[in-house]
Amino acid sequence: MTAYAMAEATDLAGTQLRALREAYDPYTTERLADTGVGPGWRCLEIGAGDGSIARWLADRVLPGGEVLATDLDTRRLASGAGLRVLRHDIGQDPLPTGEFDLVHARLVLQHVPNRREVLARLRTALRPGGWIQIDEFDTSYAPALLTPDAAAARLYEAYLAAKEQLFGAAGGRVTWGRECAAELRDAGFEQLDPQPRIFLWRAGHPGLELQLCLLEMLRDRLLANGLTERQLGGLAHLMSDPQFAACSPVVYSVQARRA
Ligand SMILES: C[S@@+](CC[C@H](N)C(=O)[O-])C[C@H]1O[C@@H](n2cnc3c(N)ncnc32)[C@H](O)[C@@H]1O
Repeated sequence: MTAYAMAEATDLAGTQLRALREAYDPYTTERLADTGVGPGWRCLEIGAGDGSIARWLADRVLPGGEVLATDLDTRRLASGAGLRVLRHDIGQDPLPTGEFDLVHARLVLQHVPNRREVLARLRTALRPGGWIQIDEFDTSYAPALLTPDAAAARLYEAYLAAKEQLFGAAGGRVTWGRECAAELRDAGFEQLDPQPRIFLWRAGHPGLELQLCLLEMLRDRLLANGLTERQLGGLAHLMSDPQFAACSPVVYSVQARRA
């Protein structure tokens, strides 16, 4: 089975998925709506998490359509009207041919080492003219903009670097967002439309809630990577400080079509 770097931290996964939903569902659904997804469409939502996007799609494709929501861990997914759930490893499990009008994945394929081969299989799973949308971060650019002092800015930088190193060591590809459009082109997709977006994070923004959650999920590995308990406490304090401001990572929403 394809390994997933965050799989063991199940107690915090619900908080992580809620923060993701609040931070990024508006952008993801704005982009999906641009495809014209509507009644009768057949959609595949890969690595569906808690299913917020799958439910949004299911509302759109009825009557007559269906959304297949897959994940390695389907405990937070419930089937319903227009929505079917399947435990499925996108890295290795089979996909139907010529089946879908739309395939979507957010923050999944960066964790799948054979993602290039997966793109080729996703192309085959689409009907001719079908759409793919891949939403991914590029975490290599996410600077702090306002910190109380230079030491706090250095601490935030050290955290970002340690996080990147941990994801890389677990087989993740932190630059996948920026590479995705070219990878889709090379896999034979056409009409490529890569849209980058950056959000401003201040205390209370769901993007920073997500960072606070990751701080807990990665606690042991960050400590093993050289950060101290005191620094982790300082980071939690910094990210809750009303004076703090940072750029989100670049979020790439990349759309393309099967010819
Ligand atoms: C960061 S979460 C994103 C969840 C959801 N897509 C969202 O954006 O809210 C990554 C999800 O991908 C799933 N995942 C990781 N590797 C996978 C694989 N090889 N096949 C299917 N799902 C996978 C995880 O279980 C998790 O639910």
